[in-house]
Amino acid sequence: MIPSHRSYREETPLIAPTTGARAETDAGIRQAEIVVALSRATELAMGQPVDFALRSCVLGVDLARALGMDAEDVRDVFYLALMRYVGCNAETYALAALFGDEIALRRALAPIDLASPAELGPVLLRLIAQANADAPMPQRLWRIVGSLAQSKAVSTDVLTGHCEVAERFGTRLGFKPRIVRNLGQLYARWDGKGIPHGVKGEAISPAVRIVALVQDALTLDDAYGRDRCLATLRRRRGSAYDPRIVDRFVMDADALLHAVEARASWQAVLALEPEPFGRLAAADIDEMLLALADFVDIKSPFTSGHSRAVAELAAEAARRCNLPESDAIALSRAGLVHDLGQAGVATAILVKPGALSEAEWEKVRLHPYHAERILDGLPLFAPLARLVGSHHERGDGSGYHRGLRGDAVPLAAKILAVAEAYQSMIEPRSYRAAMSPAAAAQALQQAVRAGKMDGDAVRSVLAAAGHAVTRARFSQIAGLTPREIEVLRLLAGGQSIKEIARSLGVAPKTADNHLQNLYAKIGVKTRGGATLFALEHGLGAAPGHEK
Ligand SMILES: [Fe+2]
Ligand SMILES: [Fe+2]
Repeated sequence: MIPSHRSYREETPLIAPTTGARAETDAGIRQAEIVVALSRATELAMGQPVDFALRSCVLGVDLARALGMDAEDVRDVFYLALMRYVGCNAETYALAALFGDEIALRRALAPIDLASPAELGPVLLRLIAQANADAPMPQRLWRIVGSLAQSKAVSTDVLTGHCEVAERFGTRLGFKPRIVRNLGQLYARWDGKGIPHGVKGEAISPAVRIVALVQDALTLDDAYGRDRCLATLRRRRGSAYDPRIVDRFVMDADALLHAVEARASWQAVLALEPEPFGRLAAADIDEMLLALADFVDIKSPFTSGHSRAVAELAAEAARRCNLPESDAIALSRAGLVHDLGQAGVATAILVKPGALSEAEWEKVRLHPYHAERILDGLPLFAPLARLVGSHHERGDGSGYHRGLRGDAVPLAAKILAVAEAYQSMIEPRSYRAAMSPAAAAQALQQAVRAGKMDGDAVRSVLAAAGHAVTRARFSQIAGLTPREIEVLRLLAGGQSIKEIARSLGVAPKTADNHLQNLYAKIGVKTRGGATLFALEHGLGAAPGHEK
């Protein structure tokens, strides 16, 4: 069987899907759009409120303009506010070992002055004590003392690692050196007591100084209200923050903060980017999605390279199923970003060797939902969102996060779920060793018999993974060519022959030939029969275009 222990965690099937990505429209995709998606993922990882990054972007850009900064500096602020924590998943393993839930740690640290032992000490002590609450005395005491002693050195190492990883991601995401440099200064302080150590005052980029202030201002305002927020900012004037920036912000704080509220949307934020906008070609998009895959897989030593492998397997399985190439592209992209929601699952949970508590499991169970929300609405990602949100659904309704059954899940989504399950099984996890490919294949076949997984999806994934699968067994759907599947989908969507011909850019006679061929192959004579066949086989819509 598919491992049951906490098998709900990564071995469940599913739904939905989309259009493929088309090179001609890809050219219009904004680089900032990918960064907005990334910002939603980093909010989860940092324990920040939804839209925190968007709000800080609006506030930062407004403040930069109020300070009279030029367009290049404003652009720096725009991107840094969205990407500041792109390196935050690096080395979370070390944080988890010391402090337990690293997301709770970050949430607790957000409003305090990290250079103040009086503020920092009690918070660390509380979290370390919580992380060791289950240890018997006197070991608990020794562990707390030992962890406190290590905390400064470990934190410095981890935060330095965040800066380095952020710079690498910045480069991979195609940004200019000045933006990459800003990512390396994300923890810098005006007084030089931040990281990199000793970098202070005007040597810190203006964008870094502004974003540090506006993000703390939002955190303090949310946590304590306006008066205490402003009092805290004034108190840190000249230590954490540039005095000139604090003064300008405090002077107009009410108006600046009020102006943010109505503009905390991705549309409003994209409109703020100074022109010319960064735009992406298809090859750039795939490079950026690879960076998103690595962003989340870096969290745990068990998931290194996981998303890349799922992407390759799912795309190849789609080709084995004779699905159109656009489906293979959509599945590849969905595979790369399918686990983005894991950003919101503490590393301590991901690497826990034993069974999960109910509360821990609830966090895991929601990761496909979070992945869907991260992508939702953004033009590039919207077609992938539902597909990604369904990657742990199972045909018998036992999956998550929706608990969808059978035909509620389109074929492309079923393929992604099977590819994800297979790849996870052959990788080690904290709670089990890696399974052999043969054992994983057997588990998938049992899942088909139990109604949890789709037989076509399993056969295509196993074939893509190099297992021997009889070609004839694909005939149920693979008798259709990719073109015929496209025609079938359009037909099931209500299009006439003329409309289908227009959609595909072919002559009506050619479209009709495809139609007659596919009718003969699936054994129907009418649009109604063909539509039902399409629904029965998860081919009712292209990935991302399902109703
Ligand atoms: Fe996964
Ligand atoms: Fe997952």
